[in-house]
Amino acid sequence: MSVLIQGGTVVNADRSFCADVLCQKGLITAVGEGLKAPSGATIVDAGGQYVMPGGIDPHTHMQLPFMGTVASDDFYSGTAAGLAGGTTMIIDFVIPAPQQDIMDAYKQWREWAEKSVADYSFHVAITWWDESVHAAMGTLVKKHGVNSFKHFMAYKGAIMCDDEVLVNSFTRARELGAIVTVHAENGELVFRLQKEIFEKGVTGPEGHPLSRPPQVEGEAANRAIRIAEVLKVPLYVVHNSCIQSLQAITRARNEGQRVFGEVLAGHLLIDDSVYRNPDFDIAAAHVMSPPFRSAEHQAALWQGLQSGNLQTTATDHCCFCADQKAAGRNDFRLIPNGTGGVENRLEVLWHHGVRTGRLTMNEFVRVTSTNAAQIFNIYPQKGSITVGSDADIVVWDPVATKTISAKTHKQNVDYNIFEGMTVTGCASHTISRGKVVFAKGELDVERGAGRYVDRPAFASYYDALNLQSQQAEPVAVRR
Ligand code: URP
Ligand code: ZN
Ligand code: ZN
Repeated sequence: MSVLIQGGTVVNADRSFCADVLCQKGLITAVGEGLKAPSGATIVDAGGQYVMPGGIDPHTHMQLPFMGTVASDDFYSGTAAGLAGGTTMIIDFVIPAPQQDIMDAYKQWREWAEKSVADYSFHVAITWWDESVHAAMGTLVKKHGVNSFKHFMAYKGAIMCDDEVLVNSFTRARELGAIVTVHAENGELVFRLQKEIFEKGVTGPEGHPLSRPPQVEGEAANRAIRIAEVLKVPLYVVHNSCIQSLQAITRARNEGQRVFGEVLAGHLLIDDSVYRNPDFDIAAAHVMSPPFRSAEHQAALWQGLQSGNLQTTATDHCCFCADQKAAGRNDFRLIPNGTGGVENRLEVLWHHGVRTGRLTMNEFVRVTSTNAAQIFNIYPQKGSITVGSDADIVVWDPVATKTISAKTHKQNVDYNIFEGMTVTGCASHTISRGKVVFAKGELDVERGAGRYVDRPAFASYYDALNLQSQQAEPVAVRR
């Protein structure tokens, strides 16, 4: 099967140029002007359009069992929705329950993900600690292509880890050449504030942001950063929503620390007024953690993205329908936390980022695809239009206009946080592993066509610093 994308402008993170792109057997096999179509090739006319690496969403939760329910988009519907918006790969999360065997959880998520229609990989959450977890981290890195471990500093009484777990896990990750990631919110403070606010009689969704003020996030981000600094392990802070965590990251980066920051499309574009909507369903549909913030935080996040102190954009796609959110009708603490967006990330960032001049097209590619590929060590297999890379491509029509709505989206959820937003610039075609899977508004996907993507470990800090360690073992190094 071959596909020739003709007459477009290739936009990579480093440069743009006019070229045709030939895809064969799932790979990009030629990039250049005037390429000849092999017999039987599908031709995609990209005249007047941009040909970009498919989006990588480094933070999704398909069919996550969470807060007494299960996220409504599964690996089939969620990856299909991603393809409809030009996202060709997700990095989801294996989240073991406390005391659950990590390898069992990993196998469970791998099984769930077999129905994916786009490529995927997994960060693995460390939610508790003992020797078996220490050993499992080694097995995951050396045998299963996992190079990132997630730590929830919030969700007390569920998946939260304390400093002891952070220190144990960060130390082990360093030995293995893995990167650590954190959901940065001080779970003890959230727990206390939730109780106080609820007891004062604030029971509705407006209590959610009050119980998770920016200081709670800034404290946790700074704590994780300083622990990572002492233990000399690279750190990636997910879903930064506020000035406080951005400042902590910026400070550490200026000091030379290897810290990366992610921002969600929702946190850039939606403000906290949504929680004061008198309609419970609408307010609850926006309940996610950390919460949407006021406009000054949004402005700072855009600046963080523009300055390079935040490197990636994601969605934290974790959908719950109104009947699921209703579990917290009388107590905001019980509203399942999560919102969607995997289908819309590229178009809202193009509209509000590229069309406003905040981002160049090349920077857009960097923050939607290339930087995630580099940070999580799958570049240039992903994140680039280059001969030899996987043929995961989005053909982008910069003048197409649409209005985002739950009535027309492909996501399996009854609300869209970008409802009513009109955007100019959308995917006209998406190519996944060399096959056209989305064209002119229609999906043509095959259940199970997505493949698991191995992410090799990095050279460990011990290797990089040329230090001796009894525990340091050789690992596969990609670059
Ligand atoms: O509210 C959110 N973000 N739900 C998903 C789990 C998480 O914290 O990332
Ligand atoms: Zn989180
Ligand atoms: Zn998340």
